[in-house]
Amino acid sequence: MSDGLTDAFRWIKPHNFKVSIIAAVGNNNELGDDNGMLWYLPTDLKRFKDLTIGNTVIMGRKTHDIIGDLPGRTNYIVSKNIRGKNIFNRLDQSISSVNTEQCFLIGGQKIYEIGMEYVDKIYLTKIDKTFENATVFFPNINMDEWKIEWESEKIEENNLSFKFINFIRK
Ligand SMILES: NC(=O)c1ccc[n+]([C@@H]2O[C@H](COP(=O)([O-])OP(=O)(O)OC[C@H]3O[C@@H](n4cnc5c(N)ncnc54)[C@H](OP(=O)(O)O)[C@@H]3O)[C@@H](O)[C@H]2O)c1
Repeated sequence: MSDGLTDAFRWIKPHNFKVSIIAAVGNNNELGDDNGMLWYLPTDLKRFKDLTIGNTVIMGRKTHDIIGDLPGRTNYIVSKNIRGKNIFNRLDQSISSVNTEQCFLIGGQKIYEIGMEYVDKIYLTKIDKTFENATVFFPNINMDEWKIEWESEKIEENNLSFKFINFIRK
């Protein structure tokens, strides 16, 4: 019987903690461009902070170049090229090293792509707009494997309409 966990996740899971993805996307799964995010949504940033505070955030080296270390959280970086404290050359090693109750994969595209198999929850902010200049995209969520656990009402802010959607594995 399936417990919803992939073999990869079961193998690396060192103790009973939660690994989630958190991301904000446009209508075509747009994540951002070479300079960073394509929108400014304080309500989304507050939710991001409320969920991640006190826990570990794991990000790709390029996302770290853009946003730096996030205060109040343990920051892990994934890179094949740089070395240092809290820098890992494999995503699975970074997840295995987490010693907070929860850990969040916070982007960007590369980390979401390789991280999808390790997570049991996706916190998605879906923005009802197409961003033509996007260069990075969130991977497709296969609804054969995932179901919507909860979704918020529409929220209007800064001339954008968005909602929060939580996905869990079937
Ligand atoms: N909308 C959102 O929620 C959201 C969230 C986060 C980021 N973003 C956006 O995403 C963009 C950045 O995403 P990105 O895909 O270009 O970069 P990224 O995922 O942030 O970082 C890519 C880097 O991670 C390292 N990496 C990737 N795969 C690896 C692997 N298998 N093993 C070891 N290291 C690996 C490499 O670092 P080295 O080159 O150092 O080896 C690679 O260059 C930005 O536009 C940012 O604003 C959006």
